[in-house]
Amino acid sequence: MGNKETTVFVLDDEKSVQESMRMILKDKYKVFTFNCPEEILADPSLDPDLIFTDIRMFSMSGLEFLEKIKKTKPQVEVVMITAYPDLSSSLQALRSGAFDYIVKPFGKDQVLEAAERALRKRNQVIESSRMIRDLRQAIDLNYEATTQALVLAVDAKDSYTAEHSRRTSELLVELGKRIGISDSKLTSYKRAAELHDIGKIGIEENILRKKGPLTPFELEKIKQHPLIGYQILRPTTFLREGLDIVLHHHERYDETGYPEGLKGKEIPFPARLFAVIDTYDAMTTERCYRNKLSPGEAIEEITKAKGKQFDPSLADLLVPHFLEFEKSGYLYRL
Ligand SMILES: [Fe+2]
Repeated sequence: MGNKETTVFVLDDEKSVQESMRMILKDKYKVFTFNCPEEILADPSLDPDLIFTDIRMFSMSGLEFLEKIKKTKPQVEVVMITAYPDLSSSLQALRSGAFDYIVKPFGKDQVLEAAERALRKRNQVIESSRMIRDLRQAIDLNYEATTQALVLAVDAKDSYTAEHSRRTSELLVELGKRIGISDSKLTSYKRAAELHDIGKIGIEENILRKKGPLTPFELEKIKQHPLIGYQILRPTTFLREGLDIVLHHHERYDETGYPEGLKGKEIPFPARLFAVIDTYDAMTTERCYRNKLSPGEAIEEITKAKGKQFDPSLADLLVPHFLEFEKSGYLYRL
Protein backbone atom coordinates (compact mmCIF):
# COMPACT_ATOMS: atom_id res chain seq x y z
CA MET A 1 0.00 0.00 0.00
CA GLY A 2 3.00 2.26 0.39
CA ASN A 3 3.46 5.02 -2.10
CA LYS A 4 5.42 8.20 -2.04
CA GLU A 5 2.28 10.29 -2.48
CA THR A 6 1.12 9.23 0.98
CA THR A 7 2.18 11.57 3.76
CA VAL A 8 2.92 10.27 7.22
CA PHE A 9 3.66 12.53 10.20
CA VAL A 10 5.57 11.33 13.23
CA LEU A 11 4.95 13.38 16.37
CA ASP A 12 7.21 12.58 19.30
CA ASP A 13 9.30 14.72 21.61
CA GLU A 14 12.14 12.18 21.53
CA LYS A 15 14.47 12.71 18.60
CA SER A 16 15.55 9.05 18.63
CA VAL A 17 11.95 7.86 18.18
CA GLN A 18 11.40 10.31 15.34
CA GLU A 19 14.53 9.07 13.59
CA SER A 20 13.82 5.37 13.96
CA MET A 21 10.26 5.87 12.68
CA ARG A 22 11.61 7.88 9.75
CA MET A 23 14.06 5.08 8.87
CA ILE A 24 11.29 2.48 8.95
CA LEU A 25 8.75 4.48 6.92
CA LYS A 26 10.85 6.57 4.53
CA ASP A 27 11.10 4.02 1.71
CA LYS A 28 7.34 3.77 1.37
CA TYR A 29 5.97 7.15 2.42
CA LYS A 30 6.77 10.84 2.54
CA VAL A 31 7.69 11.23 6.21
CA PHE A 32 7.73 14.46 8.26
CA THR A 33 8.71 14.57 11.92
CA PHE A 34 7.48 17.00 14.59
CA ASN A 35 8.54 17.71 18.16
CA CYS A 36 5.34 19.24 19.46
CA PRO A 37 1.61 19.01 18.63
CA GLU A 38 1.19 22.77 18.23
CA GLU A 39 3.34 22.70 15.08
CA ILE A 40 0.72 20.50 13.42
CA LEU A 41 -2.38 22.06 14.95
CA ALA A 42 -1.32 25.61 14.14
CA ASP A 43 -1.04 25.03 10.41
CA PRO A 44 -4.38 24.17 8.79
CA SER A 45 -2.71 23.73 5.39
CA LEU A 46 -0.94 20.55 6.53
CA ASP A 47 -2.70 17.53 5.09
CA PRO A 48 -1.25 14.24 6.37
CA ASP A 49 -2.83 10.87 5.58
CA LEU A 50 -1.58 9.28 8.77
CA ILE A 51 -0.09 10.52 12.05
CA PHE A 52 1.89 8.46 14.51
CA THR A 53 1.81 10.33 17.80
CA ASP A 54 3.39 9.75 21.16
CA ILE A 55 0.77 9.31 23.88
CA ARG A 56 2.84 11.26 26.45
CA MET A 57 4.38 14.57 25.45
CA PHE A 58 5.44 17.66 27.38
CA SER A 59 3.06 20.33 26.13
CA MET A 60 -0.08 18.31 25.45
CA SER A 61 -1.03 14.68 25.85
CA GLY A 62 -1.37 12.55 22.75
CA LEU A 63 -5.04 12.05 23.65
CA GLU A 64 -5.66 15.78 23.73
CA PHE A 65 -3.88 16.14 20.40
CA LEU A 66 -5.95 13.28 18.96
CA GLU A 67 -9.22 14.96 19.92
CA LYS A 68 -8.11 18.28 18.46
CA ILE A 69 -6.83 16.90 15.17
CA LYS A 70 -9.94 14.75 14.68
CA LYS A 71 -12.08 17.85 15.03
CA THR A 72 -10.27 19.71 12.25
CA LYS A 73 -9.27 16.74 10.07
CA PRO A 74 -11.73 13.91 10.75
CA GLN A 75 -10.40 11.73 7.95
CA VAL A 76 -6.77 11.60 9.09
CA GLU A 77 -5.85 8.29 10.70
CA VAL A 78 -3.94 8.37 13.99
CA VAL A 79 -1.82 5.62 15.51
CA MET A 80 -0.67 6.19 19.09
CA ILE A 81 2.86 5.39 20.25
CA THR A 82 3.08 4.45 23.88
CA ALA A 83 6.09 3.66 26.01
CA TYR A 84 4.00 1.67 28.45
CA PRO A 85 1.54 -1.05 27.68
CA ASP A 86 -0.97 1.26 29.32
CA LEU A 87 -4.27 -0.39 28.45
CA SER A 88 -6.60 2.27 29.81
CA SER A 89 -5.10 5.21 27.90
CA SER A 90 -4.74 3.09 24.78
CA LEU A 91 -8.42 2.12 24.98
CA GLN A 92 -9.36 5.71 25.59
CA ALA A 93 -7.37 6.65 22.48
CA LEU A 94 -9.26 4.08 20.41
CA ARG A 95 -12.54 5.39 21.77
CA SER A 96 -11.53 8.94 20.83
CA GLY A 97 -10.93 7.93 17.24
CA ALA A 98 -7.35 6.57 17.11
CA PHE A 99 -7.04 3.70 14.67
CA ASP A 100 -4.48 1.67 16.61
CA TYR A 101 -1.50 1.90 18.96
CA ILE A 102 2.04 0.56 18.94
CA VAL A 103 4.16 -0.07 22.01
CA LYS A 104 7.77 1.06 22.43
CA PRO A 105 10.21 -0.50 21.73
CA PHE A 106 8.59 -1.23 18.40
CA GLY A 107 9.87 -3.37 15.54
CA LYS A 108 9.95 -2.43 11.87
CA ASP A 109 7.17 -4.85 10.87
CA GLN A 110 4.89 -3.67 13.64
CA VAL A 111 5.14 -0.06 12.44
CA LEU A 112 4.74 -0.90 8.74
CA GLU A 113 1.76 -3.14 9.40
CA ALA A 114 0.05 -0.50 11.56
CA ALA A 115 0.67 2.10 8.83
CA GLU A 116 -0.70 -0.15 6.08
CA ARG A 117 -3.83 -1.08 7.98
CA ALA A 118 -4.52 2.53 8.97
CA LEU A 119 -4.06 3.75 5.39
CA ARG A 120 -6.24 0.95 4.03
CA LYS A 121 -9.01 2.07 6.37
CA ARG A 122 -8.51 5.70 5.36
CA ASN A 123 -8.88 4.76 1.70
CA GLN A 124 -12.07 2.87 2.48
CA VAL A 125 -13.50 5.87 4.34
CA ILE A 126 -12.57 8.19 1.48
CA GLU A 127 -14.06 5.78 -1.04
CA SER A 128 -17.33 5.41 0.86
CA SER A 129 -17.71 9.16 1.37
CA ARG A 130 -17.12 9.55 -2.37
CA MET A 131 -19.87 7.00 -3.02
CA ILE A 132 -22.24 8.79 -0.66
CA ARG A 133 -21.48 12.09 -2.37
CA ASP A 134 -22.11 10.55 -5.84
CA LEU A 135 -25.35 9.01 -4.59
CA ARG A 136 -26.50 12.35 -3.19
CA GLN A 137 -25.67 13.99 -6.51
CA ALA A 138 -27.71 11.36 -8.37
CA ILE A 139 -30.63 11.92 -5.99
CA ASP A 140 -30.28 15.69 -6.42
CA LEU A 141 -30.36 15.32 -10.19
CA ASN A 142 -33.51 13.27 -9.80
CA TYR A 143 -35.09 15.95 -7.62
CA GLU A 144 -34.41 18.46 -10.36
CA ALA A 145 -35.87 16.17 -13.00
CA THR A 146 -38.91 15.43 -10.83
CA THR A 147 -39.41 19.10 -10.01
CA GLN A 148 -39.10 20.04 -13.68
CA ALA A 149 -41.63 17.38 -14.70
CA LEU A 150 -44.11 18.71 -12.14
CA VAL A 151 -43.48 22.34 -13.14
CA LEU A 152 -44.13 21.40 -16.78
CA ALA A 153 -47.34 19.67 -15.77
CA VAL A 154 -48.52 22.90 -14.10
CA ASP A 155 -47.26 24.93 -17.04
CA ALA A 156 -49.39 22.94 -19.46
CA LYS A 157 -52.43 23.91 -17.45
CA ASP A 158 -51.50 27.41 -16.35
CA SER A 159 -48.36 28.98 -17.81
CA TYR A 160 -48.54 31.98 -15.47
CA THR A 161 -48.08 29.68 -12.47
CA ALA A 162 -44.94 28.05 -13.86
CA GLU A 163 -43.15 31.38 -14.49
CA HIS A 164 -44.41 32.78 -11.20
CA SER A 165 -42.98 29.73 -9.39
CA ARG A 166 -39.58 30.18 -11.02
CA ARG A 167 -39.40 33.88 -10.09
CA THR A 168 -40.57 33.40 -6.51
CA SER A 169 -38.11 30.58 -5.88
CA GLU A 170 -35.23 32.72 -7.22
CA LEU A 171 -36.28 35.65 -5.06
CA LEU A 172 -36.66 33.38 -2.04
CA VAL A 173 -33.08 32.15 -2.42
CA GLU A 174 -31.70 35.69 -2.84
CA LEU A 175 -33.56 37.00 0.19
CA GLY A 176 -32.98 33.84 2.23
CA LYS A 177 -29.20 34.14 1.82
CA ARG A 178 -29.32 37.77 2.91
CA ILE A 179 -31.28 37.07 6.08
CA GLY A 180 -29.02 34.19 7.10
CA ILE A 181 -31.02 31.06 6.26
CA SER A 182 -28.71 28.04 5.97
CA ASP A 183 -27.93 26.60 2.53
CA SER A 184 -29.50 23.23 3.32
CA LYS A 185 -32.78 24.83 4.46
CA LEU A 186 -32.77 27.13 1.44
CA THR A 187 -32.37 24.16 -0.93
CA SER A 188 -35.48 22.61 0.56
CA TYR A 189 -37.41 25.91 0.58
CA LYS A 190 -36.41 26.56 -3.03
CA ARG A 191 -37.77 23.21 -4.18
CA ALA A 192 -41.00 23.81 -2.30
CA ALA A 193 -41.29 27.33 -3.75
CA GLU A 194 -40.89 25.94 -7.27
CA LEU A 195 -43.84 23.66 -6.56
CA HIS A 196 -45.90 25.78 -4.16
CA ASP A 197 -48.88 26.02 -6.53
CA ILE A 198 -48.65 22.44 -7.81
CA GLY A 199 -52.12 21.88 -6.32
CA LYS A 200 -53.55 24.00 -9.15
CA ILE A 201 -53.23 20.83 -11.21
CA GLY A 202 -56.37 19.77 -9.36
CA ILE A 203 -58.38 22.94 -10.14
CA GLU A 204 -60.44 23.27 -13.31
CA GLU A 205 -58.82 25.31 -16.08
CA ASN A 206 -61.88 27.50 -16.63
CA ILE A 207 -61.56 28.72 -13.03
CA LEU A 208 -57.78 29.24 -13.24
CA ARG A 209 -58.07 31.23 -16.46
CA LYS A 210 -61.26 33.09 -15.70
CA LYS A 211 -61.21 36.79 -16.53
CA GLY A 212 -62.96 38.93 -13.95
CA PRO A 213 -64.00 38.15 -10.40
CA LEU A 214 -64.62 34.61 -9.16
CA THR A 215 -67.90 33.41 -7.68
CA PRO A 216 -67.79 32.30 -4.02
CA PHE A 217 -67.95 28.68 -5.21
CA GLU A 218 -64.99 29.19 -7.60
CA LEU A 219 -63.06 30.94 -4.87
CA GLU A 220 -63.60 27.97 -2.56
CA LYS A 221 -62.25 25.70 -5.31
CA ILE A 222 -59.13 27.88 -5.73
CA LYS A 223 -58.58 27.83 -1.98
CA GLN A 224 -58.14 24.06 -2.12
CA HIS A 225 -54.86 24.29 -4.06
CA PRO A 226 -52.50 24.46 -1.04
CA LEU A 227 -54.00 21.29 0.44
CA ILE A 228 -54.04 19.45 -2.91
CA GLY A 229 -50.38 20.44 -3.44
CA TYR A 230 -49.47 19.29 0.06
CA GLN A 231 -51.15 15.93 -0.53
CA ILE A 232 -49.29 15.47 -3.82
CA LEU A 233 -45.89 16.27 -2.30
CA ARG A 234 -46.22 14.85 1.21
CA PRO A 235 -44.87 11.38 0.31
CA THR A 236 -41.64 12.89 -1.08
CA THR A 237 -38.65 13.29 1.20
CA PHE A 238 -36.68 15.88 -0.72
CA LEU A 239 -38.60 18.96 0.36
CA ARG A 240 -39.81 17.93 3.76
CA GLU A 241 -38.68 21.19 5.40
CA GLY A 242 -40.35 23.18 2.64
CA LEU A 243 -43.73 21.43 2.74
CA ASP A 244 -45.04 24.15 5.07
CA ILE A 245 -44.59 26.59 2.21
CA VAL A 246 -46.87 24.51 0.01
CA LEU A 247 -49.58 24.08 2.65
CA HIS A 248 -49.49 27.50 4.31
CA HIS A 249 -48.43 30.08 1.71
CA HIS A 250 -51.90 31.67 1.73
CA GLU A 251 -52.22 31.97 5.51
CA ARG A 252 -52.41 35.57 6.74
CA TYR A 253 -50.88 36.95 9.92
CA ASP A 254 -54.32 38.21 11.06
CA GLU A 255 -55.74 34.65 10.75
CA THR A 256 -57.98 35.46 7.76
CA GLY A 257 -55.98 33.28 5.35
CA TYR A 258 -56.40 29.68 4.25
CA PRO A 259 -56.46 26.68 4.38
CA GLU A 260 -56.22 26.54 8.19
CA GLY A 261 -56.70 30.18 9.20
CA LEU A 262 -53.55 30.09 11.34
CA LYS A 263 -52.67 33.25 13.28
CA GLY A 264 -49.35 35.11 13.70
CA LYS A 265 -46.42 32.90 14.64
CA GLU A 266 -48.60 29.78 14.40
CA ILE A 267 -47.90 30.08 10.69
CA PRO A 268 -44.61 28.23 10.11
CA PHE A 269 -41.67 30.55 9.42
CA PRO A 270 -40.94 29.47 5.81
CA ALA A 271 -44.60 30.04 4.91
CA ARG A 272 -44.62 33.50 6.54
CA LEU A 273 -41.47 34.35 4.60
CA PHE A 274 -42.74 32.97 1.33
CA ALA A 275 -46.12 34.73 1.64
CA VAL A 276 -44.36 38.11 1.26
CA ILE A 277 -42.45 36.99 -1.82
CA ASP A 278 -45.44 35.25 -3.38
CA THR A 279 -47.63 38.33 -2.98
CA TYR A 280 -44.89 40.65 -4.21
CA ASP A 281 -44.56 38.65 -7.42
CA ALA A 282 -48.32 38.37 -7.90
CA MET A 283 -48.67 42.16 -7.52
CA THR A 284 -45.94 42.97 -10.02
CA THR A 285 -47.26 40.65 -12.74
CA GLU A 286 -50.01 41.43 -15.22
CA ARG A 287 -52.97 39.12 -14.55
CA CYS A 288 -56.14 38.63 -16.52
CA TYR A 289 -58.18 40.24 -13.74
CA ARG A 290 -56.03 43.27 -12.84
CA ASN A 291 -53.13 45.54 -13.83
CA LYS A 292 -49.66 45.08 -12.44
CA LEU A 293 -47.87 47.34 -9.94
CA SER A 294 -44.31 48.61 -10.23
CA PRO A 295 -41.76 47.07 -7.79
CA GLY A 296 -41.80 50.34 -5.79
CA GLU A 297 -45.60 50.31 -5.50
CA ALA A 298 -45.59 46.62 -4.52
CA ILE A 299 -43.01 47.28 -1.78
CA GLU A 300 -45.29 50.04 -0.46
CA GLU A 301 -48.21 47.62 -0.43
CA ILE A 302 -46.12 45.09 1.54
CA THR A 303 -45.33 47.79 4.11
CA LYS A 304 -49.03 48.67 4.40
CA ALA A 305 -50.00 45.01 4.90
CA LYS A 306 -47.67 44.51 7.91
CA GLY A 307 -49.52 42.87 10.77
CA LYS A 308 -52.53 42.15 8.52
CA GLN A 309 -51.35 39.88 5.74
CA PHE A 310 -47.69 39.67 6.78
CA ASP A 311 -45.59 39.07 9.87
CA PRO A 312 -44.57 42.68 10.72
CA SER A 313 -41.06 41.89 11.93
CA LEU A 314 -40.38 39.73 8.89
CA ALA A 315 -41.71 42.41 6.55
CA ASP A 316 -39.44 44.97 8.28
CA LEU A 317 -36.51 42.61 7.75
CA LEU A 318 -37.29 42.04 4.07
CA VAL A 319 -38.33 45.48 2.84
CA PRO A 320 -34.81 47.02 2.93
CA HIS A 321 -33.57 44.12 0.78
CA PHE A 322 -36.47 44.58 -1.65
CA LEU A 323 -35.56 48.28 -1.87
CA GLU A 324 -31.93 47.42 -2.56
CA PHE A 325 -32.98 44.91 -5.23
CA GLU A 326 -35.17 47.59 -6.78
CA LYS A 327 -32.26 50.05 -6.89
CA SER A 328 -29.90 47.51 -8.47
CA GLY A 329 -32.53 46.59 -11.06
CA TYR A 330 -32.63 42.95 -9.94
CA LEU A 331 -36.39 42.98 -9.41
CA TYR A 332 -36.96 44.15 -12.99
CA ARG A 333 -34.88 41.30 -14.37
CA LEU A 334 -36.61 38.47 -12.51
FE1 LIG B 1 -50.90 29.72 -4.22
